[in-house]
Amino acid sequence: MRIDIITILPEILSGPLDHSIIKRAREKGLAEIYIHNLRDYSEDKHRRVDDYAYSKGAGMVMAVQPVEKAINSLKRDIQYDEIIFTTPDGQLFDQKEANILSLKRNIIILCGHYKGVDQRVRDNFITKEISIGDYVLTGGELAAAVITDSIVRLLPGVISDETSALSDSFQDNLLSPPVYTRPAEYKGMKVPEILLSGNDRLIDEWKHMQALERTKNLRPDLYKKYLKKDI
Ligand code: 6GU
Repeated sequence: MRIDIITILPEILSGPLDHSIIKRAREKGLAEIYIHNLRDYSEDKHRRVDDYAYSKGAGMVMAVQPVEKAINSLKRDIQYDEIIFTTPDGQLFDQKEANILSLKRNIIILCGHYKGVDQRVRDNFITKEISIGDYVLTGGELAAAVITDSIVRLLPGVISDETSALSDSFQDNLLSPPVYTRPAEYKGMKVPEILLSGNDRLIDEWKHMQALERTKNLRPDLYKKYLKKDI
């Protein structure tokens, strides 16, 4: 899979996507991630990418020209399945959307900034608008990193234990059960007896019960979805 990210702040994105699991996925060629500086596509002599809004008091707006040039230059070589815009007024991102996006071949993510982007970009180039939660960030870069991370870890071969991505919290609308490692007792704090029993069937039952309990208590909204098998 290939992900092209267009941003005015490439430094913010290179860090989060250049470590650990995502770094290895890139090195193994399982995910190609390219970060493009929007300013490189500006035809303004000062490389500006924004301008004043037509309506008073609306702040600065990302202009059509650099965005159109960036997207069209990418589209010249590759066909994209989605062109995503990160914006607080987009559709709320969740595991289901991550699963759907992980099945695509090529996507572009345009990181939103300032007061937004000229509506003509949204009308003519963007196929999907995504928010990562009901709060406001200074820009769409962290959202793009979140979206990219959640997609790439789902690609086949990225996580070594093949069942591991499937047993994540949220894959079936249940939170994960608690986990423990050695020692069995630390300063009087004990690992639950059942996990030391060696009885896999009982352990699986216990884990499922724990997942149900935790979800019911911590995320009643998810628990309702789980009961409805709404995924
Ligand atoms: Cl995608 N962008 C910004 N600026 N703020 C956000 C967001 C995106 N998602 C949640 N808050």
